Amino acid sequence: MSMAIPDLQDVVAEIADEMRQRVDRGDVATYIPELARVDPGHFGIAVIDAEGHVATGGDADTPFSIQSISKVFTLTLALGLAGDRLWQRVGREPSGSRFNSIVQLESERGIPRNPFINAGAIAVTDLILSGHQPREALGEILRFLQFLADDTTIQIDKAVAASEQRTGFRNAALANYMKSYGVLDNPVDFTLGVYFHHCAISMSCRQLATAGRFLAHLGRNPSTGFSVVTPERARRINAVMLTCGHYDGSGEFAYRVGLPGKSGVGGGIIAIAPGKASIAVWSPGLDESGNSHLGRIALEALAKRLNLSIFGS
Ligand code: DON
Repeated sequence: MSMAIPDLQDVVAEIADEMRQRVDRGDVATYIPELARVDPGHFGIAVIDAEGHVATGGDADTPFSIQSISKVFTLTLALGLAGDRLWQRVGREPSGSRFNSIVQLESERGIPRNPFINAGAIAVTDLILSGHQPREALGEILRFLQFLADDTTIQIDKAVAASEQRTGFRNAALANYMKSYGVLDNPVDFTLGVYFHHCAISMSCRQLATAGRFLAHLGRNPSTGFSVVTPERARRINAVMLTCGHYDGSGEFAYRVGLPGKSGVGGGIIAIAPGKASIAVWSPGLDESGNSHLGRIALEALAKRLNLSIFGS
């Protein structure tokens, strides 16, 4: 049975070309000073179909700061460590508020709404850290991404991590608040250190699309045959990505693109077309929810032209 997508490279090249020409690019994130230096003119896209054919366009091989996209992979690791017990410290409902919002934490007694908002991801990182030194936990996360992407050159951008460590007062507030409720087990500084560093991992669209393949194919990379998670867990991670992966823009993303996806404030988005493809796009300019502006537009065009929406054509 052939699952190749016809005309894939043509469509991807066409979209990269269209995105290159657009003038509405959104604004790059400035609250992490190091990210403010990134050229908003970049655009990259990589799509890998079920047979492993890779189609790329634009800056598909330029590494960028994956930021919150790392939260998909820390969630996967934490579920592997704790199973369903994870859901005792973090919920799985969309928040309807910004990615770094603190308001719900008080009324919900320090339990973050979901693992993708900052508070939730910090709680997930804390779980991975338990029983380890920060350096070991970070090594686990980095090696997991290197394994999934089949690329040992993937590294942490130390300048980005240091930049956020110097200025991440909001995340420090979230972490201290959760700590006051006993939701974090480790010293706040340790947990934040690991969190800032995994957000600062640099990857290209090609590497990210490769790393996401297990989510598109029932938990298994169909090219290597390696099973990463069970089919049930892959389905559930995709469900959380669909409902929470774009924060208060998750409804709009589902409406326009119709795929589970996870954005990062570096301008990347990973999107999963179950059974069909793993996709990564990158354009550093963001919309008002902190999600890549052209990244979303490119994914909308791709899903439409290739009939990828999980809701049908
Ligand atoms: O904690 C932060 O604010 C960043 N390290 C990650 C936030 C992020 O990527 C939000 N995504 N769109």
